[in-house]
Amino acid sequence: MHLSSPLTPVALLATSALAQTTQLFNFTTYVDIENGIIRPNGHLLLTTFSNGELFTLDPVSPDPQAQLVATFPGATAITGIASIGPDKYAIAGGVRGSYHYTNETIYTIDFNTSAKNPNSTVKPVAHLPNAVMLNGMAALPAQPQTILTGDSRLGCIFRTDTTTGETDVAFKHEALSAPANASVPIGVNGLKTVGEYIYFTNSGRGTFARVRMTPNGTVVSDVEVIATLHEAGDDWDDFQVVADGSAYVAQPTNAVVRITADGSQQVVAGGGDSEVVVGPTSVHVDEGRGVAYVTTRGGTVGGVVVSGQVLQVEL
Ligand SMILES: *[C@@H]1O[C@H](CO)[C@@H](O)[C@H](O)[C@H]1NC(C)=O
Ligand SMILES: *[C@@H]1O[C@H](CO)[C@@H](O)[C@H](O)[C@H]1NC(C)=O
Ligand SMILES: *[C@@H]1O[C@H](CO)[C@@H](O)[C@H](O)[C@H]1NC(C)=O
Ligand SMILES: *[C@@H]1O[C@H](CO)[C@@H](O)[C@H](O)[C@H]1NC(C)=O
Ligand SMILES: *[C@@H]1O[C@H](CO)[C@@H](O)[C@H](O)[C@H]1NC(C)=O
Ligand SMILES: *[C@@H]1O[C@H](CO)[C@@H](O)[C@H](O)[C@H]1NC(C)=O
Repeated sequence: MHLSSPLTPVALLATSALAQTTQLFNFTTYVDIENGIIRPNGHLLLTTFSNGELFTLDPVSPDPQAQLVATFPGATAITGIASIGPDKYAIAGGVRGSYHYTNETIYTIDFNTSAKNPNSTVKPVAHLPNAVMLNGMAALPAQPQTILTGDSRLGCIFRTDTTTGETDVAFKHEALSAPANASVPIGVNGLKTVGEYIYFTNSGRGTFARVRMTPNGTVVSDVEVIATLHEAGDDWDDFQVVADGSAYVAQPTNAVVRITADGSQQVVAGGGDSEVVVGPTSVHVDEGRGVAYVTTRGGTVGGVVVSGQVLQVEL
């Protein structure tokens, strides 16, 4: 399609959306930031594919820097993260291969330290020998010690009690798997719980969907597809649902989109030819500050390797 004057307002709109996006931090060597979460103090935790390192970053500091806070024994990559208590998290990790992990493990890390126990503690709490690619994770709102973790290759959601390690398959469905002809064999990717719903993206199918569950994570509805990706070549990664029911979704290769509850989609950062957002992986909204933090895996832009970033988007 050729650009002509009637399209100019759209271009201007895109430019103003870009103007609201700033890079808070990037790694100087290549680090793929996979996911994150906002802590009670407003800082971010960042999971990465570089030796399973977990970082923390203060986004309101004048010069935000990621600080290494933990590594996970036996894991080369850590992915999904969920809050399971006050400043306490569950994290999925394993030994990363090509769309296939081994030794998939659920760990917990507790930052709620005391004078008596000043150090945060990492504990492996469950091994999932059948898991192939654990990805997005969320806690059950009614019992946050129990988490749900999507498996992008098996097309299922595992349920793990982080106090006992007991794990079962809460839900397995075609809507969670990649189609056989998908260019990237990743089904369920981002996953969040809100009230009685589990929301998820499926990268291979280009869908954003939800199902209803009981308080213990048992799925009791059909899959409701809220939106389907417009752009071939893009896909949907992790996201956050906000109070008005809309979701801010990482849309590699270079955008963040807002999907409203009725399924309409609007690019809020990057998109088009923009090089501001490079390989977004997850979005974390601080509704109090009116901003979204976006993590990225970086990529290659114009032959130059760009490392993982943390961006701030004004909402
Ligand atoms: C698997 O993970 C556990 C931690 O849960 C670790 O102790 C063990 O060394 C890992 N095994 C391999 C083969 O990486
Ligand atoms: C730490 O845990 C205690 C309960 O054990 C809780 O009262 C307190 O609010 C927690 N602190 C933080 C920073 O979450
Ligand atoms: C906490 O960590 C520090 C540094 O690794 C170590 O010297 C100290 O012994 C630890 N404290 C406890 C109570 O484990
Ligand atoms: C996969 O197959 C479906 C159904 O035949 C088709 O609609 C879709 O375009 C195909 N996707 C790719 C990436 O080839
Ligand atoms: C979950 O709750 C339902 C009732 O809402 C019950 O039938 C089911 O056995 C429970 N499942 C587990 C794993 O606790
Ligand atoms: C980090 O960001 C700066 C500022 O945008 C950019 O010039 C630099 O190339 C980036 N470095 C990497 C390794 O991505």
